[in-house]
Amino acid sequence: MSAETNPILSMIAELQDVEQFKVQHWEGSFADYLDIVREDPNVARNAYQRVYDMIMHFGTEEYTEYKKRIVRYRFFDDPFDDGRDAVFGIDVHLMKLVNVLKSAALGYGAERRVILLHGPVGSAKSTIARLLKKGLEWYSKQPEGRMYTFSWVMPDGEEIPSPLNEEPLKLIPPEMRETVLAEINRSGRGRYPVSPEGDLDPVSRFMYRETMKEVGGDWTKLVERVKVRRLIASEKDRVCIGTFQPKDEKNQDSTELTGDINYRKIAEYGSESDPRAFNFDGEFCVANRGIIEFVEVLKLDVAFLYDLLGASQEHVIKPKKFAQTAIDEVIIGHTNEPEYRKLQSNEFMEALRDRTIKIDIPYITKWHEEARIYQKDFNRKRVRKHIAPHTLEMAAMWSVLTRLEDPKKPNLTLVQKLKLYDGRTLPGFTEDNVKELRKAAKREGMDGISPRYVQDKISNALVRDADATSINPFMVLNELESGLDNHSLISDEETKKRYRDLLGVVKKEYEDIVKNEVQKAIAADEEAITRLCANYIDNVKAYTLKEKVKNAFTGQYEEPNERLMRSIEEKIDIPETRKDDFRRELMNYIGGLAIDGRTFDYRTNERLHKALELKLFEDQKDSIKLTSLVSQVVDKETQAKIDIVKQRLIDNYGYDEQSATDVLNFVASIFARGDSKESG
Ligand SMILES: Nc1ncnc2c1ncn2[C@@H]1O[C@H](COP(=O)(O)OP(=O)(O)OP(=O)(O)O)[C@@H](O)[C@H]1O
Ligand SMILES: [Mg+2]
Repeated sequence: MSAETNPILSMIAELQDVEQFKVQHWEGSFADYLDIVREDPNVARNAYQRVYDMIMHFGTEEYTEYKKRIVRYRFFDDPFDDGRDAVFGIDVHLMKLVNVLKSAALGYGAERRVILLHGPVGSAKSTIARLLKKGLEWYSKQPEGRMYTFSWVMPDGEEIPSPLNEEPLKLIPPEMRETVLAEINRSGRGRYPVSPEGDLDPVSRFMYRETMKEVGGDWTKLVERVKVRRLIASEKDRVCIGTFQPKDEKNQDSTELTGDINYRKIAEYGSESDPRAFNFDGEFCVANRGIIEFVEVLKLDVAFLYDLLGASQEHVIKPKKFAQTAIDEVIIGHTNEPEYRKLQSNEFMEALRDRTIKIDIPYITKWHEEARIYQKDFNRKRVRKHIAPHTLEMAAMWSVLTRLEDPKKPNLTLVQKLKLYDGRTLPGFTEDNVKELRKAAKREGMDGISPRYVQDKISNALVRDADATSINPFMVLNELESGLDNHSLISDEETKKRYRDLLGVVKKEYEDIVKNEVQKAIAADEEAITRLCANYIDNVKAYTLKEKVKNAFTGQYEEPNERLMRSIEEKIDIPETRKDDFRRELMNYIGGLAIDGRTFDYRTNERLHKALELKLFEDQKDSIKLTSLVSQVVDKETQAKIDIVKQRLIDNYGYDEQSATDVLNFVASIFARGDSKESG
């Protein structure tokens, strides 16, 4: 069936980008390539320069924190994958990482070091490495990030690619390079001077020698045997991106890093030392021109260390039976604390320690930044079930609390400290105080619960009850609690107890949050407030003029309702002794408005508004409590009231039917508890 008749095929035909394909598979002569480099010398950047420019490609944002200027690199929002690998809340540390890459790009020395991401389990080390790799894949497809390599074309048409995907400019003999590069760099169009380092890979060197013989020493003829082509980084295809993961020590073999002899090909080429009989497929070879990631780099067997040291310090590797071979790649490793501590005390590893730049990647210590992780993971697009408001927020509160050190100040609770860190203000605490708090807690962010644990427990909560249409904070908090029993990383009971206690703290905070929310939803009844306000003002007016009030129901005149007035005024702490003043001032104000022909609006009086809201809430909460706690049978009128509040929770606060019902019941039960305490 052809694309014209099959709708899906024609859809695909429309989506495909043939132009793009052609561009990314560009091939040309060496001369064509020289034209490209002259036009845009950035195509010949080295790996550090390309990776740094890739990050900068996405731009930056700035903000100040504790009076310091912080740069947020938009790259870390993960522009490639819909934010899936976005990294939040550790901008200061990401800045350090980017600065190291910058220094390496400029050739200030960092390019001769292993970049070591160091932090507790689940602190985004792998995520950062993955992001860099994805970024390079993407960038190499863009015109701004393009790079090139070459193949040798044999007279019979066979093509032998440079196994290390070498930069074509390295074909220029060393003694001529300087002059040619000076010519290329003269334009000033490159962000960095073009200066490819080192000699060609062994295969290309071999081909170079052989071809040179054939063309009688004429270099211009030699490059006619070369085909230059666009190079697109791809982790899947093992192009420009390598990952090395240590296995158990006995199985490690340095050929995994530098490549191995291909015995089948020895027969073809006749000699073990013919580079064409060697597979340059070790991770270092694969990653040339791009990035190599060392997972748990410090678990590496010592035998590998020499390879790693040579690769970082000298930018060379030593494949079996071949001379040292130049490489150009970003070397990034990660490790957690226990391994790093071993490194500190291991003399044997001193050489490595000396050649690493350690960048701490701690856990997030800002509550709402932590919440963003879970919001990203469990957003609407990915989760079918409804997640009640505050669910992820409360899980995040707990994980951050486990990471904070107890404040040394007696007048500050741990939760208050968390809120200060989160950017809230507290009377008596300045920005400088918060900065001091942070400084005093040196290890903060290196211990505590990992986001991965929380992610797992949220998933558990989501699948636990197949019939439930939504999950609420309690389900997640319970899941977090029961998981502690067999948490593999926390063995001591004291820590577990502390974490359990902190769950209690979070529940308490949640109570306050939803109490407030339901209170607002109930009091958001404008009609009722207006009625209550009118009633209050009628009474106050009668009171100040020493008159009687007409009862709207019976039509009879009665004394002003002192109980009603006081119950409102008490909500904003107006003492008995001040009530006359308060009432008189209010009447004067309303009188003043009347003279101008205007009427009073309670919304213009903040204090009165609040008092009315609180009073209204108090009046109405009883009806809600009654329904939920006392019986299944609710009179029509009460049910109507509840439904209105529920609808408000759904419309304005992000609840669904189920979670709104739950939260109303929950808040009612809190008040029931409160009431019985008061009376008891
Ligand atoms: N600062 C952060 N911003 C966004 N997500 C984060 C952050 N920290 C951790 N995560 C999330 O936590 C999970 C674990 O992260 P990751 O696998 O990158 O950690 P890691 O440091 O490599 O852990 P390990 O030491 O166990 O290998 C991921 O889902 C990641 O998205
Ligand atoms: Mg990891």
